[in-house]
Amino acid sequence: MTTETLQQTSLIDLLREDHRRLKDLFSEFESGDEETRPGIIREATRLIAAHDRIEKKLLYPTVKEIVGEDGLDLLLRCREAHHIANIVQLELRLMPNGPRRYAKFAKLAEAIRMHMEEEENQLFPMIERADVDWIALGERMLDYKDGGSLEPLNPGAAPIFSTVIALGALAGLAWLAYDAAARKD
Ligand SMILES: [Fe+2]
Ligand SMILES: [Fe+2]
Repeated sequence: MTTETLQQTSLIDLLREDHRRLKDLFSEFESGDEETRPGIIREATRLIAAHDRIEKKLLYPTVKEIVGEDGLDLLLRCREAHHIANIVQLELRLMPNGPRRYAKFAKLAEAIRMHMEEEENQLFPMIERADVDWIALGERMLDYKDGGSLEPLNPGAAPIFSTVIALGALAGLAWLAYDAAARKD
């Protein structure tokens, strides 16, 4: 797909494209070996991080009003899936390559596959026909992937968001320290 075509593509279709790429990377990881797996993890975690920011900055705030009461639980589950994936990725970054790291990535891939199915089968069909300029949001996603920034839609929420991420990071580090100590017993 060329950049010109992509610029006319809706945010939802671009997110679907990311999902397809991630599913391919997860399959490559499964059939991979010691040589290929570290590179696949690097590429997948980069893509997951960018996708995470785009959905949290562009998609979820936009659809909060659209999904109504019925979709609120779904939206909360999506946000939690991202939060858990971020903690696991933090742990992955701190671990050396080896069987335990690969097992952790395999479980992350399993969880992300389920989350992507939830978005594709439930969330996207629920919001796709809403009166939203998905093409304009798609352009913002492409701009971000080209090195642009994603301004928070609600600037007041930024400090809270940073605090939550920092606390999540601390919890991850504490868990790693605890786990390392427990393994010495
Ligand atoms: Fe998501
Ligand atoms: Fe997604």
